[in-house]
Amino acid sequence: MDDSKGGSSRAVHISSEQVQRFCEFLYRRTGMSFAESKRYFIDRRLEDRIAATGSSSFQEYFSLLRTDADQEIEHLINSFTVNETYFYREEHQLRCMTASLLDDIVSRREPGATLRIWSIPCSTGEEPYSIALWLMENWPQVDNYNIEIVGSDIDTRALRAAAEGIYGDRALMRLSRDIIGRYFTSVTGGNHQIDEGLRNSIEFTQANLIDTKDMMQYRDFDLIFCRNVLIYFDDASRRLAAENLYDCLRPGGYICLGHSESMSRISPLFRVSRFPDAIVYQRPEADHG
Ligand SMILES: C[S@@+](CC[C@H](N)C(=O)[O-])C[C@H]1O[C@@H](n2cnc3c(N)ncnc32)[C@H](O)[C@@H]1O
Repeated sequence: MDDSKGGSSRAVHISSEQVQRFCEFLYRRTGMSFAESKRYFIDRRLEDRIAATGSSSFQEYFSLLRTDADQEIEHLINSFTVNETYFYREEHQLRCMTASLLDDIVSRREPGATLRIWSIPCSTGEEPYSIALWLMENWPQVDNYNIEIVGSDIDTRALRAAAEGIYGDRALMRLSRDIIGRYFTSVTGGNHQIDEGLRNSIEFTQANLIDTKDMMQYRDFDLIFCRNVLIYFDDASRRLAAENLYDCLRPGGYICLGHSESMSRISPLFRVSRFPDAIVYQRPEADHG
């Protein structure tokens, strides 16, 4: 069974009631909530998975999903995720990281301490690699600390691409020629592969933001980038993700959300922190809960 997003599809009839049942199933596993207005998007992907598994109807596919669960669920989730991302996306938050956030964090730590930064969801890797590049280029203290960067996503296909680190021009559009020249090498198809050293410096793992058990493996992050995923969730999943992320942060640690996402509307656990470059959210220092 292939796990490509754009496989060939054959038309099978899927009723509104079946779409609803399916969306409920996907929602419970991922937190992603699709409205009826996304019917075309849903039908296309479902039809592709029905064809890829050789099922002859929605009903047959849905039964398969519930029996041969793990493998097909992985393919299904991979086909429904929206992986849009690029290097130096919302650069003002990267600026805020080196102009304000890290200086505040290290003011409470010894030189040589480990700083943990999490990019979740990291999609195909552009975000954690951007964090690493930005730090090397813009944070004078970079060599004084042991910096660990972890990139996590629910989508295993995106994670494989992240580990490979090969990008086309669109992903690199915000990077200067100088940076591309110093950190990437040209590979076939006009693409660019990020340096092996950088690839090895980031740990890529699968994690589901709304799976509390899954999230319990991750602790003690100083800074979390959780950008452009909460927009796909409904209020209940957003709240659950926020609570899970809170537990993954050290007291005093910060979280950056996407520009159209706001923690204030989701959870009272975080304090709003306004810096010259960005508004971010902080787990209160006094709270060691
Ligand atoms: C639009 S991308 C955002 C990537 C990056 N953070 C950025 O802002 O450019 C959204 C990502 O969220 C991931 N995702 C969706 N549901 C998730 C969940 N429950 N847990 C972890 N990642 C999830 C998708 O696989 C996709 O890669």
